[in-house]
Amino acid sequence: MKVIVVKNYDEMSKKAAEIFIEQLKNKPNSILGLATGGSPVGTYKELIKAYNDGQISFKDVQTYNLDEYCGIDINHPQSYYYFMHDNLFNHVDIKEENVHIPSARGENIAKQCEDYNNALHSVEIDIQLLGIGSNGHIAFNEPGTSFEQETFIVELTDKTRQDNKRFFNSIDEVPTHAMTMGIKNIMQAKSIVMLISGASKKETVEKLLKGPITESFPASILHNHQDVTVIIDEEAYQNMK
Ligand code: F6R
Repeated sequence: MKVIVVKNYDEMSKKAAEIFIEQLKNKPNSILGLATGGSPVGTYKELIKAYNDGQISFKDVQTYNLDEYCGIDINHPQSYYYFMHDNLFNHVDIKEENVHIPSARGENIAKQCEDYNNALHSVEIDIQLLGIGSNGHIAFNEPGTSFEQETFIVELTDKTRQDNKRFFNSIDEVPTHAMTMGIKNIMQAKSIVMLISGASKKETVEKLLKGPITESFPASILHNHQDVTVIIDEEAYQNMK
């Protein structure tokens, strides 16, 4: 696991974007694994800038998102479908048919889950962007999830719902379930870039970097992956000094 410590959120975003820009320059038809949440927003802004400067194009890129809330409409401002279009896809030349986001609404969610998992089996993600939950979750694989888990419907923990309340009007509006890539799907990516920023993640960083590999801290499995870069800002890194 390669650890890069940077000054702040902006530096983290620039560093992550540099890695993605390099990837797209070397392989314009890359398959990207993408995340939502607060951590990647700055990275997406940097990628849009690079696109506008003519440095990169998304016309041959395919994307697979980690997760999506169950039961909220794709046009809901907090759906991950909406988030991805608002923060990245609407601003670059990606083709909509190359965008893959789990769909977890309507009837037969189990079938949708199976379809997404099969789609993941048919590709190899070149580079996967990840955030980390303060409880160590990756995508929505909450503590206790098997390292062998593939795409599934998860009941979100109270901690995760509280953490994500900031994006909704009240806790009652935060969905209780989500569809998520499993840990096994994530580990199949060729390379992984994880973003960690802010003082609220300082204990999380400590557990990630010093703790054992255990299903009670899902992100710890990343120590077993051969190509992981974790970009951490100084506030998040403060307990390591
Ligand atoms: C988002 C996702 C989550 C977030 C994590 C951190 O697609 O899968 O695991 O990466 O909850 O969220 P932020 O970045 O908002 O702290």
